[in-house]
Order: sequence, then structure tokens, then C-alpha cells
Amino acid sequence: MSENTPAGPLDRRNFLKSVGLAGAGAAAVATGARAAETADKNITEVQDWNRFLGDGVQAHPYGSPSRYEKEVVRRDVEWLTVSRESSVNFTPIHALDGIITPSGLAFERHHGGLAQVDPAKHRLMIHGLVDKPLVFTMDDLKRMPGRISRAYFLECAANSGMEWKGAQLNGCQFTHGMIHNLWYTGIPLRTLLDEAGVKTTGKWILAEGADSSGMTRSIPIEKAMKDCLVAFGMNGEALRPEQGYPVRLVVPGWEGNMWVKWLRRLEVGDAPWQAREETSKYTDLLADGRSRRFTFVMDAKSIVTNPSPQMPLKMKGPNVLTGIAWSGRGTIDRVDVSLDGGRNWKAARMDGPAMPLSMARFYVDFDWDGRELMIQSRARDDSGYVQPTKQELRQVRGVNSIYHNNGIQTWLVRENGEVENVEIA
Ligand code: MTE
Ligand code: CO
Repeated sequence: MSENTPAGPLDRRNFLKSVGLAGAGAAAVATGARAAETADKNITEVQDWNRFLGDGVQAHPYGSPSRYEKEVVRRDVEWLTVSRESSVNFTPIHALDGIITPSGLAFERHHGGLAQVDPAKHRLMIHGLVDKPLVFTMDDLKRMPGRISRAYFLECAANSGMEWKGAQLNGCQFTHGMIHNLWYTGIPLRTLLDEAGVKTTGKWILAEGADSSGMTRSIPIEKAMKDCLVAFGMNGEALRPEQGYPVRLVVPGWEGNMWVKWLRRLEVGDAPWQAREETSKYTDLLADGRSRRFTFVMDAKSIVTNPSPQMPLKMKGPNVLTGIAWSGRGTIDRVDVSLDGGRNWKAARMDGPAMPLSMARFYVDFDWDGRELMIQSRARDDSGYVQPTKQELRQVRGVNSIYHNNGIQTWLVRENGEVENVEIA
């Protein structure tokens, strides 16, 4: 169908005519359209939705996806779930496109269940090494000057954590789905800290959540002052309870665990607090028994989301390969894709806005001849950092840790189009 085919209600005769035009053109075939069949019942038989009136407005005051999209949901992994209250589910990245994660599909990670906080009763306290301890209500935060709105990715440090020792989970939702990229609205943390007046001895911030896990993390003052946000909005509306309603800390580019949800307390101190989440957890045990600590930054990483185990190839000929990339060090400036297990690489087509510390989308339009493929993607950011292979990563870090696995993923596409999580020896 040409670009200027008239839009709007088509009568069936004209519709057939325009489809016929598309089928006749060789260009349409080469771009993936099928030649028009003469008697396609989907066209010749009148469908119910074409015959009867639909729901009126206000039937769905808060809209939800089409009933045909029921499979596009967050999922968890049974054996990773000791108790539902301290658990994780995964963003269906295999079924999404663009760079913004729909609010209802953003993965959840709770250490003490989903807190349902009453915004009228919620308070955010700032104290410790400050000139003037402060308490903010939600109304106070919402009338603070200097509100901003930004897109950032959040990746749990344990994303891909089950893959350190070898290929395990069959689907990028499970290997790479502890990530979301949301559009936040909030107040720069710096604005609140400046109002309280941080003393010169104040070098670290403790952030604490109001949920039953009482999550606490220490954050260096430089980062707190640089780009952290106290966010009350996501994707244009209030934060979802799953993401910490009514207010969460946004720590751009740094590990998800530091993004304290249901944020209720910020204490300024002169040293880190050695909280549970920065000692026994979220430290990276190396092969020689020593541990890396305070590994805050999420290094550049990418994943081909389609094709992938949950998204097999259905047809030979034109296909669209797509995926996402992100880096806690800056902006993704290039993603290379290999179809032969890393022997040959080709720059993918980057699409959409390139924003620092936000997800990037890439595409490769390719012709599949039905042969086996070994698909990989490799991200590079504007600091020059290049995503390593899993072998390179293991040489430096060993395989004891579950955190910060940003190695290159391999998908094996079989001749029947099925896709499997594999590793190249
Ligand atoms: N904050 C509180 N208060 N309680 C929590 O359990 N989980 C942390 C972090 N902040 C957590 C929290 C972890 S480990 C991650 S990865 C992110 O929140 C997950 O954010 P999400 O649920 O929006 O995906
Ligand atoms: Co986490």
C-alpha cells in the first residue's frame, strides 16, 4: 500500500483494490508483504467488530492492552522464588519495542513485599550532618521549584546473574529482564540536600525505604549531588506501587538496589553505613575469595530481544532483528551484531533518541535463508567502553558472583526457527 493510500473507513471494495495494488508491486514482496490472495476470508467475510457497535467511551476509564496481548506479561521463575514477598519477576523485553517500558510491565524486585503506602501519611526526612533537618510531605515535594523529567534505565545488579556458570534460562525475559526504562518526574536530590545544608563533613547519604524490608543503601555525596532524583512520577503518571509509590530514589546508571523505593529517610554521614545490602549482598565474590565492593556502575550491555527463545523466527526471507542496549557510564553510541557467533560484525541501525543513562533501541533488517545462526550483540558507549565476551569477563571476575554479568549473549537459531540460549566454547 502506498504512503498516500487514503486512511479512514474503507469500504470493502476499495480495501480489496488497495491490497491488490500492494500485492502486485514487487517492492511490497521484497519488504516482507505477501502477494494478495484472491479469496482471503479475513477480508471477504465481515467480522463482528466490523458489523456491531463497539463499547462506548467510559467503558474503560483506565485502559488496558488488547485482549489478544494476554501473553505480554511479567513472569517469574519458580525455582528463583523462595517466597513471593522476597522475590523478583521479569520485564517481557522479548515482546516490547521502542525504549520506554510500559508501566504495568516494569519488573518488580521486593525484599519485603509490595508496600501500599498512603501518600497522605508518607513523610521524607533529611537529617544527620545537615544544618537544618527537614521533613517533606508529598504535597511539599510536588510544589518544590525545579521539578524535572528524564528517562533512565534501572538494572538490578543480579540481572543475568544465573548465567555466570553457563547458559541456563531460555528466554531474554529471564536472562535479561531485570531491567526497565521509565520516564521519571521528580526533584533533583541536590535541591533537597541544599535546602537542608550539607555540612562539609557530610560525605555519604543513607537512603532508607518505608517497606517491611527497611531497605538501606549508602550513596557517595558526589553522586547524590550530581544527578540523583527524588521521583514521584513515572511515564507521565504517579509511580506505580510496584516501583515505590509515592516516592523513590533514582540513581541514574547505578545498580538497581540503590534506587530505594518508598523512600522515607535520607541521612547524611561521613562514612558508608555497611548496611546488609552492601556487605553480605551486592558484593562480587572473586575467584581468589576476595570481594569487590561498592560496584555501583552498571557497565554497558546489550541483548537481542527478537529473535530470542520466546520469539522464534517464523519465516524465511526478510526479518527484523531488534534489541536493546544501555550503559551506566554514558550514552550508547554503537551496537554491533553478529549472525555467526562473533566472527563477523555489522553495525546495527540505532533508532530513537540517544540519551545518557537511558536504554537505546537497535535494528538489523536481514534476510534469513533458513540456515543456523549464532546471534550476538555488542554495545559500546561514548566513554569508549565495549561490552566484553563472557569468557573475558570470567577471566577477570571468576564465576562465584551473581552480580554485574554484562557479557555478550549468544542465541542459537535452528533451521526450524527455534532459538536457544547457548555459549560458544
Ligand atoms: N527499595 C525498597 N524499599 N525495597 C526493596 O525491596 N529493591 C531494590 C530496589 N529498591 C527494593 C528497593 C532492588 S534489589 C532493585 S533491583 C530495585 O529496587 C527494583 O526496582 P523495581 O521494583 O522498580 O524494578
Ligand atoms: Co536488585
